[in-house]
Amino acid sequence: MTVAPTVTLSNGMTIPMVGLGTWSLRGAACQQAIRTALEQGIRLFDSATFYGNEAEVGQALRAALSSGIVKREELVVVTKLYPNEFAHAKAAFAASFARLGLDYIDIVLLHHPASDAVAAYRVLEQEVQRGTVRALGLSNFYQQELAAFLPQVSIKPVLDQNEIHPFYQEQDVVPVIKDYGILPQAWYPFGGRGHTHEILAHPVIKELSARYRRTPAQIVLRWLLQRGIAVVPGSGSAAHMAQNLALFDFALDEADMTALSRLDCGRKFDWY
Ligand SMILES: NC(=O)c1ccc[n+]([C@@H]2O[C@H](COP(=O)([O-])OP(=O)(O)OC[C@H]3O[C@@H](n4cnc5c(N)ncnc54)[C@H](OP(=O)(O)O)[C@@H]3O)[C@@H](O)[C@H]2O)c1
Repeated sequence: MTVAPTVTLSNGMTIPMVGLGTWSLRGAACQQAIRTALEQGIRLFDSATFYGNEAEVGQALRAALSSGIVKREELVVVTKLYPNEFAHAKAAFAASFARLGLDYIDIVLLHHPASDAVAAYRVLEQEVQRGTVRALGLSNFYQQELAAFLPQVSIKPVLDQNEIHPFYQEQDVVPVIKDYGILPQAWYPFGGRGHTHEILAHPVIKELSARYRRTPAQIVLRWLLQRGIAVVPGSGSAAHMAQNLALFDFALDEADMTALSRLDCGRKFDWY
């Protein structure tokens, strides 16, 4: 079993650089995916109220905790409040907390910027004071949004989760996020379901895959990690999860990092 190396966040918490994205995992399949992920060594789970799967995520994690497969302090549970919940953030958080059914949530993100994002974040700051949440973060915040948002809040967000993959690399945004002392985390590392083939079958990535004797997915994830970007690939497959963790015994050389940086074409696979 491989457990991903951790990174220390600005508040002193440590989290694994590789987690499991749970979007599109629902019901029994979601619970099975979480059991499989725990067996493979995955310890960070990325959910959201919007995914409609917090109950399943919580149930699978609670079952693993009570059977002793994992200890609570080894887990990092991430969820997000959606903009349509910001106006009633206290109640929305309470519902999310109840669905997960854990003693505390590790990190709560604002899923998107919105006009009432600061007010919602301040509500979540109170949850950090109460001990129901350990840290706060953002998602889909870019330079302008960060510059406007950060001076208005007291607790610094620990991470910013954005769409980042070979075709949409955020070469300008990532250094800005890091300069704030915030960890960038990539969603859709393979372009998202329905698009993974376009990235994983790209000739440059296939050539690197053959030369490094790693799968195309491992080349992409390793490239993100070498840029200092944490990853939450989605998967329901044990073999894929194992691959997505087996990233720490090889390194892409500088020329190959440069070759991958040239694939950036500003192509997003989602609207935000
Ligand atoms: N903050 C946001 O706004 C936002 C938006 C979208 C997504 N997200 C987060 O990002 C996570 C990742 O996004 P995603 O799951 O939609 O897309 P993704 O990680 O880019 O791609 C998932 C797809 O890749 C496949 N896959 C996984 N590992 C693989 C491997 N080693 N080799 C080949 N194929 C592999 C999966 O199939 P198998 O199931 O067969 O492995 C699945 O079809 C989401 O689950 C969610 O947590 C956040």
